[in-house]
Amino acid sequence: MDRGEQNFIKLPVFGAKIYNKMMSIAPVQNQISQIAQDLLKVIKRGRLLDIGTGHGKLLKEIHKLNPQIELYGLDISKAMIELAKTNVAQIQVNLMQGNINSTIYEKDFFDLITCTGSFYLWNQPKESLNEIYRILKPNCKAVLFETYKNYDKEQFKKALKHNLKDETFLNKKLLPRFLKKQLRMTYSVEDVEEIIKLTDFTNSYEILKVIIATLPIWMRIELRKPNEILK
Ligand SMILES: C[S@@+](CC[C@H](N)C(=O)[O-])C[C@H]1O[C@@H](n2cnc3c(N)ncnc32)[C@H](O)[C@@H]1O
Repeated sequence: MDRGEQNFIKLPVFGAKIYNKMMSIAPVQNQISQIAQDLLKVIKRGRLLDIGTGHGKLLKEIHKLNPQIELYGLDISKAMIELAKTNVAQIQVNLMQGNINSTIYEKDFFDLITCTGSFYLWNQPKESLNEIYRILKPNCKAVLFETYKNYDKEQFKKALKHNLKDETFLNKKLLPRFLKKQLRMTYSVEDVEEIIKLTDFTNSYEILKVIIATLPIWMRIELRKPNEILK
């Protein structure tokens, strides 16, 4: 069964442009900025990969806050990679089209791997987490930001209304629909834990429920690759 990645493979250029426009609003920029600040507490230099980078704006924000980091972006969608190329045109980023279930990156290559709202779409989450383990350096982390299913609906409704109060009529209509669709497809914290337990990260993970840009729908999934000697 396809969890959603097939739709992104087929995404037309105009679809990526609509996504870009929808994600250009202030609350999404706040979300990107909060995630970038979190990640920059984890590393100060080295190679960072953003999986399912989409519009690539997280990479742009990380570069703005710390130009020392060597940036990589992966996405299954050609249209999204083309969009990201435009959005990060002024900076050095290694963008590649591909599926995280099997990549051509070297083993032990990245100092930090991240993704925002992409994990729930992967058709092979277990194989993909094992691939993340392979390409991550020992003693380094992957920090994934994902929405979860069993969130507080009342708190979410209030926060979303507040976030969208200055938006256009169209955004007020489209964004909640888009988010609610994502939330219907997403995992629960327990589902994610079950998947991680089947992977190489089984002994070294932590899942926290977090509020990002006022929305109480996020989990921060931290996966650590232990030092080979300590394993
Ligand atoms: C909802 S978008 C999120 C984009 C961006 N990270 C953001 O925060 O707006 C999900 C992205 O994940 C990508 N994607 C889905 N499955 C993937 C896979 N198996 N490997 C790599 N990218 C994938 C999609 O093409 C899409 O760009």
